[in-house]
Amino acid sequence: MRINYQLRELEGEQAFFFLSKAREVAKETGKEIISFGIGQPDFDTFSHIKEAAKRAIDEGKTGYTESAGIPELRETIANYLNKRYGAGVNYKNVLVTTGGKTAIFLAMVGVVQRDTEVLIVEPSYYAYGQVAKFLGARPIYVPLKWMGKDIGFELDLEEVKKRISPKTSAIVINNPDNPTGNVFEKEKIKALFDLARDHNLALISDEVYDYFVYDGDFFSVTQLGGWTENSVLIQSFSKTFSMTGWRLGYLAAKEELISLLDTMAVNLYSCAPNFVQWAGIEALNGDFSPTYKMISEFNERRKLLYNRLSEINGVEAYMPGGAFYMFPRIAQVLKSTGMSIRDFVFRLLREKGVLVLPGNSFSSHYGEEFIRLSYATKREKIERGTELIKEFVEEHKKD
Ligand SMILES: Cc1ncc(COP(=O)(O)O)c(C=O)c1O
Repeated sequence: MRINYQLRELEGEQAFFFLSKAREVAKETGKEIISFGIGQPDFDTFSHIKEAAKRAIDEGKTGYTESAGIPELRETIANYLNKRYGAGVNYKNVLVTTGGKTAIFLAMVGVVQRDTEVLIVEPSYYAYGQVAKFLGARPIYVPLKWMGKDIGFELDLEEVKKRISPKTSAIVINNPDNPTGNVFEKEKIKALFDLARDHNLALISDEVYDYFVYDGDFFSVTQLGGWTENSVLIQSFSKTFSMTGWRLGYLAAKEELISLLDTMAVNLYSCAPNFVQWAGIEALNGDFSPTYKMISEFNERRKLLYNRLSEINGVEAYMPGGAFYMFPRIAQVLKSTGMSIRDFVFRLLREKGVLVLPGNSFSSHYGEEFIRLSYATKREKIERGTELIKEFVEEHKKD
């Protein structure tokens, strides 16, 4: 048998790779690992959502459903998007998926053709580039501009414009962005949409962190008039409701695309789990106060992590506006310790039991000088973890 060569080009998610590395190190060294690695809220799924799933199981909602999702959930999602963003959609604009990742895959399948180019604003979530490659397209990365620690990163639209070619099929943006925490201004989103429309491209907007916004306003692509003509929205229940293991997400787009992707979905996964979809209805229609409570805790952690990182010599931390990540520059630390980014990450894990991710999991442009930390972890761990990072840096400084 010959294995599909395209599979060999795929790379896995570094967050998952380092999760198992951390487990290995914990086993070998007996150290308790403080993880700033994987991006998953450390809150239990909210109880009213769990109860809804249990009820659904008891009511026998355990079989296959419509592949695009149960009509009740599609309707609920459409109403929710209309109420929150004035999206102007109905259930036919919504396809329920098995998590945000499946939504990313389907969105790309929907608008990315072989031998085209996909512009991906980076530092970014790794999956966009992987799926583009798998579809026979070329990911073209558009680096955000590093403005120094007082500002962080900014999107320069000229950088996007100069990479648009007759081969471009899509632009991908993650707003708020993993890993930088950037929340893109309304003007930038509007300008990206205009570019997409003027060049007949798709703007894929991954907004799975839309609730995790601490400073300023969030602007969704779905707030733009006529957005479905050129945009595809990626969404997930994973982060907002702390439901990462439930595998529930959706994409929203124009009816024609959703209907075609429905056929793809039935070929791929038949449907999202039945009782999980019923729990999804409860999530969207039910009480949002646990979400707001979680986000207010994350905001405290954000400030704490920022303050602690800023105290470490050579770490250039900036205050991100959204998501739950920080992406500080550590070039001076690497210089003064003589370590590469890989050395830094592996040695910090082995010697201090602290897991951070190397920037090169998210960016080829900035990857060798930055690290990502998720602050979806308890405040005590943030305190202790940053103390250990500080110690590590001090111990290895050569100058
Ligand atoms: C930007 C972004 N999109 C999508 C996902 C995937 O989410 P899900 O767990 O719903 O597949 C993640 C997960 O970390 C993410 O960071």
